[in-house]
Amino acid sequence: MKKNVPKKILITGGAGFIGSHVVRRFVTRYSNYHIFNFDALTYAGNLENLKDIEQSTNYTFVKGDITDADFVNDLFARNRFDGLIHLAAESHVDRSIVDPLAFVRTNVFGTVNLLNASLQTFKENAGFLFYHISTDEVYGSLGKEGFFTEKTAYDPNSPYSASKASSDHFVRAYGETYKLPYIISNCSNNYGPNQFPEKLIPLFINNIIQNKALPVYGDGNYTRDWLFVKDHAKAIDLIFHQGKKGETYNVGGFNEWKNIELARLLCRLMDKKLDREAGTSEKLITFVKDRPGHDLRYAIDASKINQELGWEPSVTFEEGLELTIDWYFDNKEWLNNVTSGDYLEYYKKQYQV
Ligand code: NAD
Ligand code: TYD
Repeated sequence: MKKNVPKKILITGGAGFIGSHVVRRFVTRYSNYHIFNFDALTYAGNLENLKDIEQSTNYTFVKGDITDADFVNDLFARNRFDGLIHLAAESHVDRSIVDPLAFVRTNVFGTVNLLNASLQTFKENAGFLFYHISTDEVYGSLGKEGFFTEKTAYDPNSPYSASKASSDHFVRAYGETYKLPYIISNCSNNYGPNQFPEKLIPLFINNIIQNKALPVYGDGNYTRDWLFVKDHAKAIDLIFHQGKKGETYNVGGFNEWKNIELARLLCRLMDKKLDREAGTSEKLITFVKDRPGHDLRYAIDASKINQELGWEPSVTFEEGLELTIDWYFDNKEWLNNVTSGDYLEYYKKQYQV
């Protein structure tokens, strides 16, 4: 066991997609930690994601909003946290185009609230660590060649990535100005169980099940680097425990797919799963109006985390997609629950259906 191992760990956004996998990993692996999951339960947060661990004695759920400074300060005053893993965010690019201020509020203002509260904790507990979870989208768009490294200049294009870039800068600035110990990691596109079906992979799985159109933006030649969510959670665990303070780590799958090719792969896998004749689901692919400011390509060079911390993805894309598809089939009730209400209105507006 390492020296100065934190005991009370605050995880924000733990009821969301990636956060729920991180919370589960920490609650089940580290019985010497008490994990506090701080989440506002927006449309993207769902306690059903954590049903299997909610009774654990080393787990506490705190419903609250990171934009509420009084609430945040009070929570930090009542608990002398040893570490914070910050995942709470508005996370969907299309929503950020419709309502940028919601992204400024949570991703920028909310992060600064957490930083301010952390300063007081750091005064009392020199071992405190602020670990900020971010995205490769802060680097902007790549052309056909090359990779994002930790040295790539920030060049965000969407309101979402601009808000995440801003929050990354605030974290660094608090490190420089107030010496707050921090680490930042920037990860590529995640997929896997519990992802809200507005992002590409779960949206298409859900639409194929329901025989609905698969809206491919523009010509579909946009490229993303996909990583299975549990491999991201594993990277977060390693970085939190072994990462160097004041450093950035890029996390990615070395797994680039053009959207249209990924859509076709999903269709083939789903035809098999649904016992449909080959080619049936592909007929659902529909090219729609492009996303404004659409980044052409993201691709992460993950050699630093690989060489320094020994991290590498544990599943291939094929294995990860099989696990993901199986999970959505086994959890139709979850899918029905999350796709009612606010989501439906949003979906109808987005695709004019
Ligand atoms: P998500 O949208 O699934 O979950 C976000 C969670 O944050 C939800 O549980 C929501 O209730 C909570 N939340 C939102 N606003 C809040 C507020 N004001 N106060 C408290 N809680 C609030 O997001 P995700 O996909 O799990 O992403 C988690 C983090 O990882 C984000 O910071 C995101 O930028 C980053 N990230 C995501 C990806 C990806 O592919 N999904 C890739 C790289 C980085
Ligand atoms: P998304 O899952 O929203 O992640 P991000 O925009 O953060 O990368 O989108 C992944 C890619 O898929 C992106 O190039 C936009 C595209 N896309 C579609 O073509 N159709 C869709 O319905 C969605 C949601 C995304």
